[in-house]
Amino acid sequence: MLFTAVVYGLSLVHSINALTFGFPYGSQKVRGVNLGGWLVLEPWITPSLFDSTGDSRIVDEYTFGQYQDRAKALATLKKHWDSWITEADFKAIAAAGLNHVRLPIGYWAFDVSGGEPFVQGQLPYLTKAITWAQKYGLKVIIDLHGVPGSQNGYDNSGQKKSYPLWHTQQSNVDRSNAIIKRIASTYKDMTGAVPVIAPLNEPAGYFGDDVMRVVRQYWYDSYGNIRWPYRTSRQSNTVVMIHDAFQPSSYWSNFMSWPNWEGVIMDKHVYQVFSVAENQMTNAQHIQTACAKAADLTSNTLWTVVGEWSPAPNDCAKYLNARGVGSRYDGTYPGSTRVGSCDNLTGSGANFTTEYKTFLRQFWEAQVISYEKAQGWIQWTWKAENADEWSYQAGLKYGWIPQKPTDLKYSNICI
Ligand SMILES: *[C@@H]1O[C@H](CO)[C@@H](O)[C@H](O)[C@H]1NC(C)=O
Ligand SMILES: *[C@@H]1O[C@H](CO)[C@@H](O)[C@H](O)[C@H]1NC(C)=O
Repeated sequence: MLFTAVVYGLSLVHSINALTFGFPYGSQKVRGVNLGGWLVLEPWITPSLFDSTGDSRIVDEYTFGQYQDRAKALATLKKHWDSWITEADFKAIAAAGLNHVRLPIGYWAFDVSGGEPFVQGQLPYLTKAITWAQKYGLKVIIDLHGVPGSQNGYDNSGQKKSYPLWHTQQSNVDRSNAIIKRIASTYKDMTGAVPVIAPLNEPAGYFGDDVMRVVRQYWYDSYGNIRWPYRTSRQSNTVVMIHDAFQPSSYWSNFMSWPNWEGVIMDKHVYQVFSVAENQMTNAQHIQTACAKAADLTSNTLWTVVGEWSPAPNDCAKYLNARGVGSRYDGTYPGSTRVGSCDNLTGSGANFTTEYKTFLRQFWEAQVISYEKAQGWIQWTWKAENADEWSYQAGLKYGWIPQKPTDLKYSNICI
């Protein structure tokens, strides 16, 4: 009885306070790119920044600040922030017919109160990015990509480690909540430019319920922090994008769903490169797997966007599996079985064969078709120094990505 009353009360609030999102999610497709490797460093996106340190202990942004002169680290980062993504990129992204950018940022841009060695100075670039997005009519998803202790131990969380520690300390979660509150209150009246906040990228749910218990509570807390930033009963129009924590759609069945909750999007990341079996797949198998994914995406109760994916069919990109770690595809990754040489499967698209480029286009189109059966997609990533198979910009240049994402050559590829 009480439950019914609560549900009824919330429904009533919704019908009075119908939210107005900054983009018509559910009726128009999300088509976007991630701005990876900019405000959060990734060794594989910009290997030169790591190689030029001359110190092999520098494997992530934490050690980037820890093991070199701080003034030098800041100067390198400042130059990178000023050049990796500029206004011209926003212009080109809009011209390519995309409507969203997802922008990863780490907690350390906001808070190094725990004494972590991270170098700060990223935040003004978030502000710039939003100004540029407004100018070119792009929507920004602010994505908290790393939290204190690390939520997954990947280098792209800021700190590479074998077991993540974010979920093991309430103080880590408290610091994350404070950052989400700050982001939500900063952008609460700008949902035309920042329609979505994604409170945490890729928490490592595969470590079990110790992690998932904390993640579920964090999604609830984030919903409150994002939806009620005015410190009154007034609700914001900001959409909350929660990651699936690598759990299947069935796990999340009815989680945060209408009518008790409103304006929640499920973010799923889909790659076919992080296992030996996937690296061994034929081109036809890659395409078939992409097409088959639609069934899972559309079985979610929540709106679902594939917030990361790529046409890369192998893990050949240098440092993709972390700095100093090899590739499964060419057998240099521990415990892997060689499929073949990585030569001309990564690096510059100028070296890719016509057959490879044709396959990249087919695989790209199969994924776009499949993910648009749900609410859309955001490719990882706009650019990479020397891994064109991952780069939207390079795909446009060499022709395996169409100049407009709706200009498909293989529109029947999933039939
Ligand atoms: C093309 O491949 C060759 C041999 O693998 C390499 O030396 C060269 O740098 C590549 N070209 C570009 C433009 O990356
Ligand atoms: C890679 O491409 C370059 C330039 O097209 C070519 O010279 C080289 O032989 C290619 N390498 C392999 C292994 O195919």
